[in-house]
Amino acid sequence: MTVFAVTGSTGVVGGLVARGLAERDVPQLLVVRDPSRAPQLPGATVARAEYADTAAVTAALQGVEVVFMVSAAENEHRLDEHRSFVDGAVAAGVRHVVYTSFSAAAPDALFTLGRDHWATEQYLRGSGLTWTFLRDNLYSDFLPKLADPQGVIRGPAGDGRLAAVAQADVADMALAVLADPAEHRDTAYGLTGPESIGLAEAARMITELTGVATRYEPETVEEAYASRAVYGAPQWQLDAWVSTYTAIASGVLAPVSTDIPRVLGRPARSLRDVLTAR
Ligand SMILES: NC(=O)c1ccc[n+]([C@@H]2O[C@H](COP(=O)([O-])OP(=O)(O)OC[C@H]3O[C@@H](n4cnc5c(N)ncnc54)[C@H](OP(=O)(O)O)[C@@H]3O)[C@@H](O)[C@H]2O)c1
Repeated sequence: MTVFAVTGSTGVVGGLVARGLAERDVPQLLVVRDPSRAPQLPGATVARAEYADTAAVTAALQGVEVVFMVSAAENEHRLDEHRSFVDGAVAAGVRHVVYTSFSAAAPDALFTLGRDHWATEQYLRGSGLTWTFLRDNLYSDFLPKLADPQGVIRGPAGDGRLAAVAQADVADMALAVLADPAEHRDTAYGLTGPESIGLAEAARMITELTGVATRYEPETVEEAYASRAVYGAPQWQLDAWVSTYTAIASGVLAPVSTDIPRVLGRPARSLRDVLTAR
């Protein structure tokens, strides 16, 4: 029987994957930073390790064959943390890693964090492990959170469109891959919703389905940096925030992928589905 480990189970996507495995009676190791916050699941054991601690990751993953690796929280050192985690997985003898990457991962991705995802993919490709990349579009679940307290989604996205994906679909794809890792070996999937929409339309849908009045106001890039200056965030964070929108404007997040319907045998969840399920 394959031995699985799941990271990020204290968060949304990893939590859904961990619960999905438990529902399928699959034993698993939950690798978490804080065991007191790990979900209590039948068949699950818990180990403490954060990505940056290669020795702790190596110790935690002893005997594990397949790992679901959630990308780390956004921070300046995320790529180093990912490399450290992969090093620990290799040292522990893991065979396969399923990694949550980004739709437009590229060395020169407009969305600055897409560069870290690309570099992480490259590191995994060169690690000797086999891999599956789940290249997620922006999360549909995340779109309502783009609005400020006045219900305005502000940013330099122009009339660009995106094919946002449901976090539940990311988890379902992960579970499909974990059910047969060999079948999905060394494969990168594009994870999107079933349609490509602009932020004005997304705002209309959020208003209609959540009752929270929301609208989209395009900004120039200069206006976007200026309107975010009040937060006192470091430059990498500002660049990440603003480039989320410029990536949408560029059209790179617009293409709809057929990977979810092909692998899962059903349509991907739309933004409407996600907002209705809330
Ligand atoms: N495509 C998108 O729109 C989008 C949007 C936001 C984020 N993301 C990425 O997608 C990932 C998953 O999304 P999510 O909603 O499930 O995020 P989430 O709810 O914030 O969960 C992230 C999980 O990763 C764990 N984690 C983060 N950094 C870690 C580290 N350095 N070492 C060990 N564990 C770490 C967290 O543990 P703790 O509970 O200990 O913090 C948490 O369990 C995020 O981490 C982020 O990289 C994508």
